[in-house]
Amino acid sequence: MLRLILPDTRYLASYIAALREGFRIGVRDIPPEEEIQKIEKDPFDHLEGINRQGGFFTPPDGIERKRVPFNDYWLVDDKDFIGAISLRYELNDFLETHGGHIGYGIRPSMMRKGYAKAILTLGLQKMRARGITSIFITCDEDNVASWKTIESKGGIIMDKAPSIFCGGSIRRRYLIEIKD
Ligand SMILES: CC(C)(COP(=O)(O)OP(=O)(O)OC[C@H]1O[C@@H](n2cnc3c(N)ncnc32)[C@H](O)[C@@H]1OP(=O)(O)O)[C@@H](O)C(=O)NCCC(=O)NCCS
Repeated sequence: MLRLILPDTRYLASYIAALREGFRIGVRDIPPEEEIQKIEKDPFDHLEGINRQGGFFTPPDGIERKRVPFNDYWLVDDKDFIGAISLRYELNDFLETHGGHIGYGIRPSMMRKGYAKAILTLGLQKMRARGITSIFITCDEDNVASWKTIESKGGIIMDKAPSIFCGGSIRRRYLIEIKD
């Protein structure tokens, strides 16, 4: 059965395999092999760090900001890591313009099987449970799989804006209103 869980060492082997396949969430960088080997040797600090709250981050505009409250969840079945979703429970000026409430990724070997739709469905349920029902979400214009996923969950396009992320293309900005 598909479910979202907090990062868990029981899924470490398939998570590591996913990193080696080139798994990433949204526009996050893919870790190089040396970093993957470090995670393999000492997974606890890495797994615990995934959901470490507080601190700061510097997005591509170079301006450091406080990290908002968030959680990264893993999409798993009975035995394997399939993908991950990042849920941000507040927006700051950067997320409100470029990032959004949600980012997600499916490991390459599991793509094109409907898992992005599944992870977004489960992620929206978690947002709903927190009382957050207006979800701002963005993706690159050329990321057809991602915008099809967003639109399949009722995403309405608000506008398109130049992307400040690595690809530097056009970013589509969507709103999903979660209904009861
Ligand atoms: C975007 C991503 C999450 C899609 O995952 P996925 O599990 O392959 O997507 P799904 O199988 O649920 O498919 C969703 C829709 O996209 C379509 N799709 C999937 N891959 C596609 C591709 N390469 N080209 C065109 N359409 C594609 C599917 O056909 C489906 O549309 P449909 O319902 O009209 O048939 C995955 O490609 C990924 O992890 N990419 C890297 C990270 C990323 O870009 N995250 C999103 C950031 S906003």
